[in-house]
Amino acid sequence: MASTLVRAALSQPVDHTPVWFMRQAGRSLPEYRELRKDNAMLEACRTPDLVTEITLQPVRRHGVDAAIFFSDIVVPLQAAGVDVVIEPGVGPVIAHPVRTRADLDRLPELEPEALADIAESVTRIVAELGETPLIGFAGAPFTVASYLIEGGPSRNHEKTKAMMLGDPGLFSAILAELGRMSATFIDVQLSAGARAFQLFDSWAGYLSPQDYRASVLPHSQAVFAALGHHEVPSFHFGVQTGELLAPMSEAGSTVMGVDFRVDLADATARVQPGQALQGNLDPAMLFAPWEVLRPRVEQIVRAGLDHPGGHVFNLGHGVLPATDPAVPGLVVEEVHRVSREILAERAAQAPSGEQAPGAAGTDARR
Ligand code: CP3
Repeated sequence: MASTLVRAALSQPVDHTPVWFMRQAGRSLPEYRELRKDNAMLEACRTPDLVTEITLQPVRRHGVDAAIFFSDIVVPLQAAGVDVVIEPGVGPVIAHPVRTRADLDRLPELEPEALADIAESVTRIVAELGETPLIGFAGAPFTVASYLIEGGPSRNHEKTKAMMLGDPGLFSAILAELGRMSATFIDVQLSAGARAFQLFDSWAGYLSPQDYRASVLPHSQAVFAALGHHEVPSFHFGVQTGELLAPMSEAGSTVMGVDFRVDLADATARVQPGQALQGNLDPAMLFAPWEVLRPRVEQIVRAGLDHPGGHVFNLGHGVLPATDPAVPGLVVEEVHRVSREILAERAAQAPSGEQAPGAAGTDARR
């Protein structure tokens, strides 16, 4: 039988709510900081020994229901030959930003052979994980385009938006190319054994629904469509996307990631019928006292079980670097405990022969 994470992400019955955390691998873990102290970020991402170990660290420590592949959204660009570095405390910096048709023509193609190390890392991770699924990922075309056009992290994304509105043909050609790269990056991960994938559109929340729908959504749809033949669950997420949940939910993912600024019950009304939800504990809540944090966790578990599709518990964005590394594991235990309890209560209340809302069958309740 498929793993709990895969089943929930396909809105199939489960016996507990599965949980993983965006940015679960990384600076919040002392064992990560120790491994990374002699390696630049992108070098680490291309070294299978390191990728394997770093991906497994949070699974061992927190007992999460899935691993997320340790890499970065700019790895496909780097693999294609783009001059990019990740500066600590800053983010991805691109030596030659793409702002004209000639710049785009110089952008190299990404051949799957350039990702042989990625396939090797995934193969090794999957072998070590056993039953626990690995989630692959890539950046969505708009978010990667923002780095490529701005040349680095941007507060307002003004060069990106100026091109989107002033030269829509060029903007669309760039997003189409980046979408193909992201699909190739994910395809390599799925072919090597990843069981699901997430498309991160981290900066989509900077767009109005009108501009998102006209200039970005078709390119995200193309990525999900290109990967449809793998028939695996897929997640789509962006920060501050409450107002974009409806159009983003049309991109084609089986699960819609929800930012912490939206109540899960409100998200239900905005996504596609039957689509699963992921989220959405505020990452800063992990700094709150347990007596405050615990009921918040329960609240989200309950809201997820009330949603008519599946629910995957996660934060509403990534684990913050200063998070106490003991806390995510407590949240995992609580999500598992509370969801099992609620599902058992609902099953006991359901008249025999009928299923409680959100439950299906006696041994496989959701
Ligand atoms: O655990 C995981 O989630 C898997 C690993 C992962 C990383 N980056 C590792 C990383 C994932 C899924 C990403 C995706 C990513 N990278 C996104 C989308 C997700 C999101 O957070 O919205 C974005 C926007 C990037 C670009 C990027 N890479 C930024 C903004 C930064 C932070 C720069 C800094 O130092 O503050 C990075 C670097 C990065 N990627 C780190 C990690 C663990 C930190 C680098 C380090 O440890 O030195």
